Order: sequence, then C-alpha cells, then structure tokens
Amino acid sequence: MAACLQLNAKPFSPLLSPNPVSTRTRKSGRISCSAASPSKRHTITLLPGDGIGPEVISVARNVLNLAASIEGIEFKYQELPVGGAALDLTGVPLPEETLLAAKQSDAVLLGAIGGYKWDKNEKHLKPETGLLKLREGLKVFANLRPATVLPQLVDASTLKREVAEGVDLMVVRELTGGIYFGKPRGFGTNENGEEIGFNTEVYAAYEIDRIARVAFETARKRKGKLCSVDKANVLEASMFWRKRIMAIALEYPDVELSHMYVDNAAMQLVRDPKQFDTIVTNNIFGDILSDEASMITGSIGMLPSASLGESGPGLFEPIHGSAPDIAGQDKANPLATILSAAMLLKYGLGEENAAKRIEAAVLDTLNKGFRTGDIYSAGTKLVGCKEMGEEVLKSVDSLVLSPV
Ligand SMILES: NC(=O)c1ccc[n+]([C@@H]2O[C@H](COP(=O)([O-])OP(=O)(O)OC[C@H]3O[C@@H](n4cnc5c(N)ncnc54)[C@H](O)[C@@H]3O)[C@@H](O)[C@H]2O)c1
Repeated sequence: MAACLQLNAKPFSPLLSPNPVSTRTRKSGRISCSAASPSKRHTITLLPGDGIGPEVISVARNVLNLAASIEGIEFKYQELPVGGAALDLTGVPLPEETLLAAKQSDAVLLGAIGGYKWDKNEKHLKPETGLLKLREGLKVFANLRPATVLPQLVDASTLKREVAEGVDLMVVRELTGGIYFGKPRGFGTNENGEEIGFNTEVYAAYEIDRIARVAFETARKRKGKLCSVDKANVLEASMFWRKRIMAIALEYPDVELSHMYVDNAAMQLVRDPKQFDTIVTNNIFGDILSDEASMITGSIGMLPSASLGESGPGLFEPIHGSAPDIAGQDKANPLATILSAAMLLKYGLGEENAAKRIEAAVLDTLNKGFRTGDIYSAGTKLVGCKEMGEEVLKSVDSLVLSPV
C-alpha cells in the first residue's frame, strides 16, 4: 500500500489527546500478539544514517514491530545507508539504491544524518545533501512537526511552568521549495570584485496552494486556528505567499486565519506559545521556528515529524540531528523516533490503532518516571536509550485499547 497525503486523516495530536488506551494490564495469554497470522503487510525502508541514528532506529523498530504485530500487521524491512554512512560505503550521500528502495516502499523511517567527519566535504558530498535529495526524490512537500508540552515534562521546558503548560501546536512547514532549492544560487563576485555567496527564495503558486491546503485541513481538525508566518513587509516571495494563502483561505471559511511576521513569531513562541494552534510557513522559517518550538517542549529528543507528498511513501523522522556529541554512548532519547514510528503508522499507513498503542506506551513510560538525560529531573529514573526502549516495549505489551 502506498502512503499518501491523508488530508482527511485526523491530525497528529501526539500524546495529549485523552489516553486512548487503558492501563489495564493484559493478562498473560489472554490477548496474544496476532503476528502468527498477519492480515496486513507493509514494506518499510529503514535509513538509520549517522551518529545516534542507528541507536534510535534500532529501538524504534522493536517498538514498531510489537505495536504492529498486536494489530495483526506484518512489516518487511529493508535497511539502507544514507548520509555519512552512505558516503563511507559508496562515495555519495544518497545512493540510487537507497532512493529506489525508499520510493518503492510503503513508508520510510529515518534516524539522522551528519557528523564532524564529513563537515568539511564539498557541498555535493555532504550528508545533508543526501537528506535534501531524499526529500526531493520522494516529493514530500509537507512537513508536519507537532510540539506538545507533556504534563510529565513541563519542568523540562526552558520556559516558566505557566507559559509552557498546555502548549499544543503544529508547525506545517513547506519542505521542497524556497531558498533551500531556489535558483540561482552559488558563489561569485560582485561589481566591486568582492567574493559573494547567494541563494534565491522563490515560490510558485502551486507550491504555496498545496501546502496551504494541508495546513487548513490540519487546522480544521485541531482548534480551527491557522497562523501563516512570513516576512511580507520586506520580501516579495513572502508578499506572494500571503496573497496565495489568502486566496486558499476562501475555501476554508471555518478556519480562523491570521498572519504574523517571522521575527514576531519567533518572539511570540517564547512569550505566549499557547496562542498558536497551527502554524504554516515556508521552508527556512519552518526549519527555524520548529526547532524553537521544540525547546518549549523540553527536548529536541521528544519531537517526531512526518513529511508527506501527494502520493508515494511518506518520510518519518525525529526532528533532531545525529547528535555526534553523545553518539555511541547509549545516551540518546529514542522517544522522538518512536513517536515518528507512530506518525508513520498513522499518516503513512493509516494504522491508527497501532499508532495509538505507541503514543500511549510513551506516556505510560514517562508516567512511570523513566527519563533519558536530556529530560531528566530530580526524582525521576535516569535510563539510557536501550532501557528507555525496553520500558516502552513493556508498556506496549501491557496496555490494551479501551473499548470504544
Ligand atoms: N534531519 C537530520 O538528520 C538532521 C537535523 C539537524 C541536524 N543534522 C546534523 O546533525 C549533526 C549535529 O547537528 P546539531 O548538533 O546542530 O543538532 P543535533 O540535533 O544533532 O544536536 C543538538 C543538541 O541536542 C542533543 N540531542 C539531539 N538529539 C538528541 C536525542 N535524541 N537525545 C538526547 N539529546 C539529543 C545533542 O546531543 C546536542 O547537544 C550535524 O551534522 C547536522 O548537520 C541532521
């Protein structure tokens, strides 16, 4: 089954929605995994990548497997190199085999790419180029990044409790256009003979219209509020962005639309983040604002993302990078990748029940007090990446879906 952009799917509201799973313990032997007779089969491409990528993917794969098998779903995995790992093996950051396998699968789960080793490579040989090409190759233009402050982690936020408590927002970022891809780009010399570097922020109407529709649909199923972030007071590309957003808004009279300049949005996100429900913005502003939003939640290690196109497989990945400073030390927080696996089930495969099992298990694990270093606070239990994964597995195994 090829995944596609499910505009009618419920928006991903990770974790804070009323717990869909009861805490009743499954009595041993009463409810067994139905892996023996799977009714649904999907092919998943795993791209562990670099740094902490392989650590978090290995944990997330186990969680994905268990949640899926309970729901009678069977996965066939293919694991391929991307980023620095691919550079070392094949000399390029996105081998053709990797892209082809990704395109032919039902969903792609990525760890992270990058590291000191390849930092000085020429641009076309940087791990990051591999990731951009992957997104481009899969034509995933809509990036959904939820940022939810969990009650259990309010104190891990850098903001005051009263500011952080209850934050639940979604950043819808345009992913395949704008300044990261615009041409002309490059290096040269100006009229004074000085060296210059330049890029182009450019958007065509169809690129804005399709991301706008994703954002309006997402907002419609959340609290019905959409804030479009741009820099229309200075940039022509942003003036055009605003014009198209307002044109598409006519199709969604039930959604309350507002506009905000990006500098103000950056400020408002730390001043009063609860004012936001759904944010839609271009590639570069979305990159920056979603990282800022992540810190409100306590740790970049908690946040998943989904990148979706009009057809073909979706790309699911934590928003963090390869964290070379903690790679190989079993210190990484695997929850962002585990929650990305939940998004994969929900948005990529339409397997909502299996997704709910994972979301609930993550909440349960946090409720029990388990914390990796990035979200640790006094009185909680410090665990490593693997142990956190094992605790989530225990919760997936011991929780049963509440009767509807
Ligand atoms: N999507 C991606 O693969 C992606 C995204 C961002 C950065 N990168 C790459 O990652 C490398 C490192 O970049 P960076 O340091 O700017 O960002 P980063 O996200 O890798 O790390 C930033 C900080 O957050 C911590 N951190 C990140 N993920 C964590 C987790 N799961 N658990 C606990 N702590 C975590 C790190 O230890 C570090 O202190 C660079 O090569 C960069 O290009 C890749």
